[in-house]
Amino acid sequence: MKGIILAGGAGTRLYPLTKVTSKQLLPVYDKPMIYYPLSVLMLAGIREILIISTPSDTPRFKELLGDGEEFGVKLSYKVQPSPDGLAQAFVLGKEFLGGAAGAMILGDNIFYGNGLKELLFKAVADAENGRATVFGYRVSDPERFGVVAFDKNGVATSIEEKPKNPKSDYAVTGLYFYPAGVSEIAETIPLSDRKEYEITTLNEIYLKRGLLDVQLLKSGFTWLDMGTTDSLVEAAEFVRTIEKRQNAVLFAPETIGYSNGWTDEKRLLSAAENYGNSSYGKFLRAFAEGKVF
Ligand code: TTP
Repeated sequence: MKGIILAGGAGTRLYPLTKVTSKQLLPVYDKPMIYYPLSVLMLAGIREILIISTPSDTPRFKELLGDGEEFGVKLSYKVQPSPDGLAQAFVLGKEFLGGAAGAMILGDNIFYGNGLKELLFKAVADAENGRATVFGYRVSDPERFGVVAFDKNGVATSIEEKPKNPKSDYAVTGLYFYPAGVSEIAETIPLSDRKEYEITTLNEIYLKRGLLDVQLLKSGFTWLDMGTTDSLVEAAEFVRTIEKRQNAVLFAPETIGYSNGWTDEKRLLSAAENYGNSSYGKFLRAFAEGKVF
């Protein structure tokens, strides 16, 4: 199983914040936004990860994250020449996937909640056995998202992109797991009316073939997409509150890589050293010494 982080796009809803920098490099409390989706893929046990971004921002991500050695993962990079839609990630990522099953997470999404790891592990195992998984989350403004509807037995019956009259309150979140062959299917998708290769079209194909599972994230779960100024602040406040309360740093790729057995204490301490005197660096040192979790 390999993973893709889609971290391009225009970020127009955050202007002027994103006029000269990438949305996914903006700070979310104590770390850049992309650390969050990177951590989610690592929590799923995924070690080979492709980061896709714009021609101007891709070098910045490389500078920030390098080849991933500090986290115990293998990172590679690919440019998306223009923001032509989420499904294009699998076309651009065809060579990278090389016929493997593939997960994709949007670079501005945070997932947090009890049992997240188990949900991720199940999605990985199912994708390796030929079934796709997406996650549904109840929202108050479903018309802004891909919306999934269900029959009486809770089986998904339709997925529609930004419907005017949503059939349910469940949005499809920005984390997708597909079996081997996803790139070949993504290549067949036509441009939509709004001139994008829609991830919803890809999901509809798996749904029609009876190969799509929709896992609902319970209300205790937090899912945020940090695409607006309010959601950006909300995410930072959320992370700060939990980190202070639990005396822990959430979504630190260095600690996840260490806990997964992909790095050792020496690597963790050298990463901490690189962050200098920041609260993040101090946390990594304390984590290595077993003082925080
Ligand atoms: P959006 O939030 O839909 O788009 P955007 O980031 O361009 O923002 P705005 O609407 O403010 O202009 O995209 C969701 C995520 O997917 C975000 O992380 C950007 C990324 N993305 C790409 O990398 N390539 C694309 O072609 C698209 C459409 C989005």
